[in-house]
Amino acid sequence: MLKPQTGAAREFELEGIVPWGRRFSEYEAFFALADFRFPGTVLDVVAGPSSFAAEAQARGIKVVAADPLYCYPGEEIERRFELTVEAMRAGMRRAAYRFNWKHYGSEEGIHRLRREALALFLANYEAGKREGRYVTAALPVLPFADGAFGLALVSHLLFLYGDKLDFAFHLAALRELLRVAPEVRVFPLMNLDGLPSSHLPGVMRTLREEGAEVELVEVPFEFQRGATRMLRARRR
Ligand SMILES: C[S@@+](CC[C@H](N)C(=O)[O-])C[C@H]1O[C@@H](n2cnc3c(N)ncnc32)[C@H](O)[C@@H]1O
Repeated sequence: MLKPQTGAAREFELEGIVPWGRRFSEYEAFFALADFRFPGTVLDVVAGPSSFAAEAQARGIKVVAADPLYCYPGEEIERRFELTVEAMRAGMRRAAYRFNWKHYGSEEGIHRLRREALALFLANYEAGKREGRYVTAALPVLPFADGAFGLALVSHLLFLYGDKLDFAFHLAALRELLRVAPEVRVFPLMNLDGLPSSHLPGVMRTLREEGAEVELVEVPFEFQRGATRMLRARRR
């Protein structure tokens, strides 16, 4: 399943993209996965310190997590989390009016979840790396064979960081994901300012022109106000 690693993942510049991870229950809401029959192995790309893969394993669901951060040992990932946590908390409190607090309750509630996710991730990470469940890789080029996965999930990178990652990056990343999986789901689709990503219409149009089935699907989750849809792209 793995192609030889290039140096790209190690060299990737991570600055400004926070190493925060979410829990399985959050992914379930972002990607409307409750009652979903997981098709084969799931790729959680841009997985960071999310506990989705760890919690999925405990539920008997096969997940491979990929992120450039995985070139580091767990202690370094934890150190990077700690370096950003206070700034992120302060930023979230300042921008509180931009969020719908129904799901999380409060900023403290989010912080608690991020720490839980980090702890579950770290407890699973070193063994998972040896088993090939955590793979050092960076979009837009993945070290996996065509069709290696049944589903690929992208949480909190594409569209969200649309000011750092340009249109060409988004398109290349989604084409690559459709190469390794027949279906790709992406959430959220708003940028960090809480505005609809300007890359989205062009990406959808181009993927459709290339033969993919592409749609916006309502999900049972809202945090950034108005961010209630995921992108679902399927190879035909
Ligand atoms: C905000 S975190 C999201 C983590 C996880 N998906 C979640 O929602 O909990 C963004 C992650 O994207 C990763 N990342 C940054 N550039 C990337 C790239 N080119 N390819 C894959 N992952 C990347 C970062 O290392 C970071 O872990």
